[in-house]
Amino acid sequence: MQKLKINKAVFPVAGLGTRFLPATKAQPKEMLPVVDKPLIQYAVEEAYSAGIRHMIFVTGRNKRAIEDHFDTSYELENELEVANKQALLSVVRSVTPDDMYFSYVRQPRSLGLGHAVLCAEHLVGNEAFAVLLADDLMVGPAGGSSVLAQMVDQFDELQQSILAVQEVPAEHTRRYGIVAADAVSPGLMKVKAMVEKPAPEVAPSRMGVAGRYILTPAVFNHIRSQASGVGGEIQLTDGISSLLGDEAVYALQYKGKRYDCGSKEGFLEASVELALLHSEVGAHFRNYLENLQIGWSGRERRAANL
Ligand code: UTP
Repeated sequence: MQKLKINKAVFPVAGLGTRFLPATKAQPKEMLPVVDKPLIQYAVEEAYSAGIRHMIFVTGRNKRAIEDHFDTSYELENELEVANKQALLSVVRSVTPDDMYFSYVRQPRSLGLGHAVLCAEHLVGNEAFAVLLADDLMVGPAGGSSVLAQMVDQFDELQQSILAVQEVPAEHTRRYGIVAADAVSPGLMKVKAMVEKPAPEVAPSRMGVAGRYILTPAVFNHIRSQASGVGGEIQLTDGISSLLGDEAVYALQYKGKRYDCGSKEGFLEASVELALLHSEVGAHFRNYLENLQIGWSGRERRAANL
């Protein structure tokens, strides 16, 4: 039998980003920059590194900046060309390699992640696809594959849906879809059940789903048949739970780190850690942090005129 490949990635970017107001009042959360790149660019680069070339965005109102970011910027490129700023020109052009292409579809109302994924059905068609939530910024292990590339490698063997999971602290289960799963091999599990944002007392495990999924197209019918779930939204988790009745779904404990950039704390952590790794500003920033008197009280800072 011919092996299926993952050719398309869906980026649901139609959420309201209320946790980041007022920054997200008129601009998409996914355009918030971590150091010098917007969140959505990290996610698109991750998909590209996994061999995916067709990027599908599920957008909403106030999200035009995302389309513009991945479009050619003639005026800017022209100005840089005239000024012979070749290095900056290649930074601008590298955002969209020639073999990357894009489709956009609108989610008219924020009815939930499951609903957003369903909006992409006609663009995905009858093939397995990836879903990336750009507000989860994922960094693969140093020198290793990106998180989605690890999942695509597993898909090559399994040919079934795969969820990225990580062990989360018991008190955080309310923030995640949590899976109950049986170990198959180191790092790989077969999912038995999945629950959206359970309280710690009822959570089936501490394996929380991060914002990376590989799904078979059968999931669309399962999402469609769901009533609204937690928070009155059509949940992707419920669609996947239902899919479990028909097909095997796996969970991969990925190698790497996740930053929850939908929250202020996670966004700040990502900004600090990625700045420290940045080739241009990393050394300076490390020096700056080392000299920062973090333990100082307000009074001491005022005394030192800070
Ligand atoms: P979140 O719930 O984390 O994002 O959804 P949000 O709604 O934008 O943010 P807050 O909670 O109000 O701060 C996870 C992902 O699903 C997308 C979001 O854009 C985000 O990438 N999403 C969510 C949609 O595309 N449509 C929806 O109806 C809901």
